[in-house]
Amino acid sequence: MPTIETERLILRDFVPSDWDALNAFLSDPSVTRYMHFSSWDEEKRRQWLASRVKLASNPHRDAYDWAITLRSNGLLIGWLIIGRSRHATEEGMRECGCGYALNQHYWGQGYMPEVLQVAFTYAFTVLGTQRIHAECERENIASARVMQKCGMEYEGTMYDDDGLGNWEHRYRYVITVQTEKTLR
Ligand SMILES: CC(C)(COP(=O)(O)OP(=O)(O)OC[C@H]1O[C@@H](n2cnc3c(N)ncnc32)[C@H](O)[C@@H]1OP(=O)(O)O)[C@@H](O)C(=O)NCCC(=O)NCCS
Repeated sequence: MPTIETERLILRDFVPSDWDALNAFLSDPSVTRYMHFSSWDEEKRRQWLASRVKLASNPHRDAYDWAITLRSNGLLIGWLIIGRSRHATEEGMRECGCGYALNQHYWGQGYMPEVLQVAFTYAFTVLGTQRIHAECERENIASARVMQKCGMEYEGTMYDDDGLGNWEHRYRYVITVQTEKTLR
């Protein structure tokens, strides 16, 4: 996957040496409070990083994970995924879901909206995606704000599971390729 640059950030594939910086925020309960990572132990986080590294070289992958790093010093501060929706009925990346997390030292500086905007453009223009959705637990106000700030529209509130058996009320937001064109 090509590296993507924004004004303040560089998005790139994960590499094994990302472990310490990645683990710093994936083991932080403030960060994972509303996420499936909250129940993971260190071994599971290590396996997950290894799987992201392996996936990065798979030309047939249907999920794109980005390591979010600072342009100024290369520090890894977050993670973003855009991947084929588990609800999609068609092949390919036409309908995608996305997920994200940031080290809490970097919250509140508009980094995640900056990341999502370029990642959405990449999905719509390179991956052929037509529609991207994201969900957050109702209490996760910061995540809902991020979705609003990058042009996603509220679609509804659902009581559903995250694919791993965690049932919660979740807000669902979407953006389509047409919406993104009008935002430019
Ligand atoms: C959700 C998250 C990615 C937001 O990223 P961000 O780069 O901080 O986003 P922004 O700077 O645009 O801030 C978004 C909102 O976060 C909240 N926020 C800002 N600073 C904050 C802080 N220090 N502490 C808690 N919340 C804060 C505000 O509600 C803000 O909205 P506003 O700009 O209208 O005031 C980040 O909070 C995070 O990593 N949270 C933990 C992981 C997570 O919940 N991921 C999503 C799962 S669905």
